[in-house]
Amino acid sequence: MKGESESPRMPAGGPLSKPLSVDDLGVSRGVLVDLALKLLYFEGEMDGSEIANSMRTPLPVAIDLLDMLRKERLCTVLGSDRGVVPVYRYGITEAGVARAREALSRSEYVGPAPVSLGGYREIVKRQSVAMACSVIRREDLEQALNELVVNPSVTNQLGPALNSAQPILLYGAPGNGKTYIAQNIVNLVLGSIFVPYACEIEGQLIKIYDPEYHSLVDGSVEGRNVDRDNRWALCTRPVVMVGGELTLTSLGLVFDPISKCHEASLQMKANGGIFFIDDFGRQLLLPEELLNRWIVPLEAQVDYLALHTGKQVQIPFDSLVIFSTNLDPSTLDEAFLRRIPHKVMIPNPTLYEYYMLFERVCQAKGVPFDKDGFSYLVDKYYRKANRPLRACHPRDLVDQIVTVARFNEQEPGLSKENIDQACANYFVQRPSEGFDES
Ligand SMILES: Nc1ncnc2c1ncn2[C@@H]1O[C@H](COP(=O)(O)OP(=O)(O)OP(=O)(O)O)[C@@H](O)[C@H]1O
Ligand SMILES: [Mg+2]
Repeated sequence: MKGESESPRMPAGGPLSKPLSVDDLGVSRGVLVDLALKLLYFEGEMDGSEIANSMRTPLPVAIDLLDMLRKERLCTVLGSDRGVVPVYRYGITEAGVARAREALSRSEYVGPAPVSLGGYREIVKRQSVAMACSVIRREDLEQALNELVVNPSVTNQLGPALNSAQPILLYGAPGNGKTYIAQNIVNLVLGSIFVPYACEIEGQLIKIYDPEYHSLVDGSVEGRNVDRDNRWALCTRPVVMVGGELTLTSLGLVFDPISKCHEASLQMKANGGIFFIDDFGRQLLLPEELLNRWIVPLEAQVDYLALHTGKQVQIPFDSLVIFSTNLDPSTLDEAFLRRIPHKVMIPNPTLYEYYMLFERVCQAKGVPFDKDGFSYLVDKYYRKANRPLRACHPRDLVDQIVTVARFNEQEPGLSKENIDQACANYFVQRPSEGFDES
């Protein structure tokens, strides 16, 4: 009840085993009782099993909680259905309504019961992303990048980097596939993990499970639903990808003043999975700000987050962090770079790689490949123009050729005219400086 503070304990079989009593839930009774009361307040009356389902606790545990409420005359038993195993129905009393309003003023959270911070720490450790990374082999990476044309230097560097589960920086010129590579390698980090719906920290509730990043897995298929604590959702390892929208706020616990509940930080949501920070250096957040914020977490694998009460809490930081940037890494802070052990340069394609990309794109888009047309393109728009090859150009130029042909009701092809038009559309041209006779 409010003000009561019991020392949380862990069920004998560990944090994931089915709780047999209220104490086994390992969180403060006040929070649990408030939760049951809020449910009754919103629903008016409920079966014990409905309350147990909402709170994701076993029925006997929910009934114990409801008994506590009943003893304080905050709820009443309205009757049972007189079945073989009677199902009791509960209603809220006037005193219960007053208490529920009080509870709602502290937090509007209604849903699965929270797990303890101790339990969360232990489970994050047990299902560390490092385990999933350590089994990645060359063949897996080559398979994941099968659709791409990737220089062997990248595979040679990226494989061990992924294997180590240590932070990785992908860098190189725009359009050479940093984002594309990252999108393809995330599927290498396999397996499912348990994610709590919510966690209680110092009497505050933090919502961790987020359907945007956590896809539920059918535990019965994996045989992982046997007698376990249902306050944890079985999910695929999360992939949190953020781009320019990343702010310092989303890297902290976000307190919603209306619901008076905290939302976990993005890195908490990424625990056990991948945290990919794309276009690093182009965020609203300055590189130095991220550096200051993450210098400890990257090294120590713990993060310090502040509750809205001002209290700092230590939270595990256990994700494979991948940064991608097209900025020159030498402009980034040396102290930051030191904490990213793996820096993988994604180079411009070689001419042969460019050729392979072009041929593949033509095939995929139904454009007949023509060696003469290709040589014309390379000679005029790269060699003579002294322009570097980029891996995105084949896709972008062939797209131009296809749309121009469609507009002109012609078959797309690599004629000189089509290439000239595609390049005129795609590449920036220098405005002519002098008088133009034509
Ligand atoms: N190695 C590659 N193999 C096949 N296609 C590629 C490759 N690299 C890039 N592409 C194509 O180019 C597109 C753009 O690449 P991507 O967005 O990954 O580049 P980037 O390096 O992240 O660029 P930026 O620095 O501007 O973010 C991809 O969506 C893909 O179609
Ligand atoms: Mg990119």
